Amino acid sequence: MAKFTVLNHPLIQHKLTLIRDKHVGTKEFREVANEIAELMVYEITRDLPLEDVEVETPMGKTTQKQLAGKKLAVVPILRAGLGMVDGVLELIPAAKVGHIGMYRDEQTLKPHEYFVKMPTDIDQRELLIVDPMLATGGSAIMAIDALKKRGAKAMKLVVLVAAPEGVKAVQEKHPDVEIYAAALDDHLTDTGYIFPGLGDAGDRLFGTK
Ligand code: PRP
Ligand code: URA
Repeated sequence: MAKFTVLNHPLIQHKLTLIRDKHVGTKEFREVANEIAELMVYEITRDLPLEDVEVETPMGKTTQKQLAGKKLAVVPILRAGLGMVDGVLELIPAAKVGHIGMYRDEQTLKPHEYFVKMPTDIDQRELLIVDPMLATGGSAIMAIDALKKRGAKAMKLVVLVAAPEGVKAVQEKHPDVEIYAAALDDHLTDTGYIFPGLGDAGDRLFGTK
């Protein structure tokens, strides 16, 4: 079973508390969601492999470290996942970006896929799937299915807020995919929202209803 990790760095906790507030508007929500994504990626990439490289400084030759191993790609689950992409790209500006469109039927809570556009070499990349909310887990599971069908082998799921139900569902269906969250919340409501959560992340990011 892949790990589930809550990244509870004080800055992450503080910023998440800010955007839980229902009075926070679109601009601040968007900025802070990206800041949290950036901090999360800083933590998640701690163990990226390094290799030796020779470099010549103005003072002479030296052997130093550079990133080795698989290249990364970011894969937002549309729409709300878009609200984390800029934060990730702040730290990994050369990452490719794949898009996967999913919406959840409000009655059945079942996800529907409507768009997939991936870099051609996703089989050779480590994918960071980003979505602010992991609720029932249906959208994340379907997104991972779609990526595996297209050859993806190495993936991490990065969410702002997770519900226990969603974590369990993804771990059962995709035990090879590590999950990182800024918070593990209490439960899902009858209508499929995370409690206390932060409401509808897509609507809060894009100012829709
Ligand atoms: C939200 C959220 C996740 C999904 C989580 O998207 O961004 O993708 O719901 O719910 P689940 O774990 O129960 O599947 P939504 O379907 O509202 O679409 P949006 O991003 O376009 O607003
Ligand atoms: N999607 C959201 O945007 N928020 C939730 O709480 C659950 C699913």
